[in-house]
Amino acid sequence: MLKNSLSLRAFFNGRVDIWDETVAEKDVTKLTRMATRLHLEPGATILDVGTGTGVFLPYMLNLIGGDGRVVAIDIADQMLLRAKDKGFQGNISYIYADIMSLPLGDEIFDTVVCYSSFPHFQDRLQALQEAYRVIRRGGWLLICHTSSRAHINEVHGQMDVVKHDTIPDADEMRSMLSTAGFSDIAIENGSDSYLAHARKPQ
Ligand SMILES: C[S@@+](CC[C@H](N)C(=O)[O-])C[C@H]1O[C@@H](n2cnc3c(N)ncnc32)[C@H](O)[C@@H]1O
Repeated sequence: MLKNSLSLRAFFNGRVDIWDETVAEKDVTKLTRMATRLHLEPGATILDVGTGTGVFLPYMLNLIGGDGRVVAIDIADQMLLRAKDKGFQGNISYIYADIMSLPLGDEIFDTVVCYSSFPHFQDRLQALQEAYRVIRRGGWLLICHTSSRAHINEVHGQMDVVKHDTIPDADEMRSMLSTAGFSDIAIENGSDSYLAHARKPQ
């Protein structure tokens, strides 16, 4: 694990007890609305990157139903354990893993979701290339937040460990996604949400 990833892991593990109360998104309407924008099909197999305490899990599970499956990964073991301890109903595997080097086979996911996690990936291109590798042909990558890009970049800028963990501008995001091999790239930078979607060609 990179040195910065170790600091990040400690940063997030150190916030596990306050996360749900004071940091995580609690607005059910915003979370529901974002989940429905991801076009998750019933029965889909999803990789949830940076699951944390599992804030977004129930919203995705609700859409994919009992035939769906989520693999939830995080580099912060304590955050992931908290998600697991919540006992969400559904077909979920929790794996302590880094998106930049996944212990998973090729082309096994319909969709890779990065909810509130992308800015923290230390090597974005490597993360996108790993996501591309594990997505099936025709499957989707979704990078999403329930706050605006400007708000997230401002909040991160106030904290030493994550001050460089920003969402890039649309040109840079588009260029990275394209370099990683994705097509059908669209970036929606809203006033209280952010969604970048991209597809692995058939
Ligand atoms: C801002 S938190 C969001 C957690 C959760 N998605 C939420 O909204 O509450 C970002 C999460 O991404 C995880 N993370 C950061 N870099 C990662 C990486 N390279 N691979 C997997 N997870 C990572 C962190 O450990 C942290 O739990």
